[in-house]
Amino acid sequence: MSPTRPRAATAGDDFAALVVRWQRRHGRHDLPWQRTRDPYRVWLSEVMLQQTQVTTVLAYYERFLARFPDVHALAAAPLDEVLALWSGLGYYRRARHLHQCAQQVVGEHGGAFPRDSAALARLPGIGRSTAAAIAAFSFGERAAILDGNVKRVLARVHGVADDLSQPRAERAMWARAEALLPARGIEAYTQGLMDLGATVCTLRSPRCDACPLGARCVARVEGSPQRYPVKARRAARGRRAHALLWLQQGRRLWLVQRPPTGVWASLWSLPEFRSADELAALVAGWPGPGEWLAPIEHALTHFDWELRPWRHALPARLDAATRHGIEAALGTGRWFDRDDALQQGLPAPVRRLIESGRG
Ligand code: ADE
Repeated sequence: MSPTRPRAATAGDDFAALVVRWQRRHGRHDLPWQRTRDPYRVWLSEVMLQQTQVTTVLAYYERFLARFPDVHALAAAPLDEVLALWSGLGYYRRARHLHQCAQQVVGEHGGAFPRDSAALARLPGIGRSTAAAIAAFSFGERAAILDGNVKRVLARVHGVADDLSQPRAERAMWARAEALLPARGIEAYTQGLMDLGATVCTLRSPRCDACPLGARCVARVEGSPQRYPVKARRAARGRRAHALLWLQQGRRLWLVQRPPTGVWASLWSLPEFRSADELAALVAGWPGPGEWLAPIEHALTHFDWELRPWRHALPARLDAATRHGIEAALGTGRWFDRDDALQQGLPAPVRRLIESGRG
């Protein structure tokens, strides 16, 4: 279907006109990915913005493009380098998918991103909403986005009290999003919805007086917009406690590469133990001083994680047999010079810990 073919007016035009007019006057216009229709740049920004705020993304986006100016450069890079540049953005699955996606675009599409949202959504790490955003911003395709912010806006405007984690309610929401699409001007409309959700119709303190949809918003008329979207009752968050070994010898430290699946997949990190006792049993008898440091608290999607670091400083001089014994007990991993370690893709809390160590 041609994305630019004129269409008859739609039910969404009135709604969309309010969003577009507001976007022109009050939306964001100077974000670097708004100055391009290059699908590589648009795709990169949309993936970075999936779970990270604009202010954080800006610096990462520029650094990433400086190192990987096009999809060929990214596809040819080692995964470790991609993870290192992603380090600190979190949700590292995105970085691995980004790399896989670049390789597919080069290997299966001759280096050109597919030009419609359905084909984009078949690539790794591109869900339906991200595919629609890329297709709208790069190719002007009339496709609906429905990320968390947009779900909130639509749930409030329409007073949708359903639990949106239910597939049926989610499908109904997609149908609403599609019915509201304007006949033309998809770029400003899509950006306007994103901007409204991020700056006006916020989760905790919506500014209904500044909202172009205020006059027609069910949640506003009811008086407590924060009630939407209705929260599904969640299972209690889990809690896990593990121990980390921060093993140093002079300026060197020992890192292990984490497995390719699970939390912090493929990142380099400090060796992790199921309990403080297990770690203590391993290091008992090792030369040099050690101490427990204050636990690190880290919130992940499904659980809160407490990590207790044990810092252990091996003496500068070690006889070969002792050193080999320690390395054999550790199993996997290797020594890194501290500066070199900080160049790797490290989980953000582990990076902060290592940076906090003097010397
Ligand atoms: N969030 C997701 N995509 C975005 C975009 N293109 N601009 C601003 N915020 C966004």
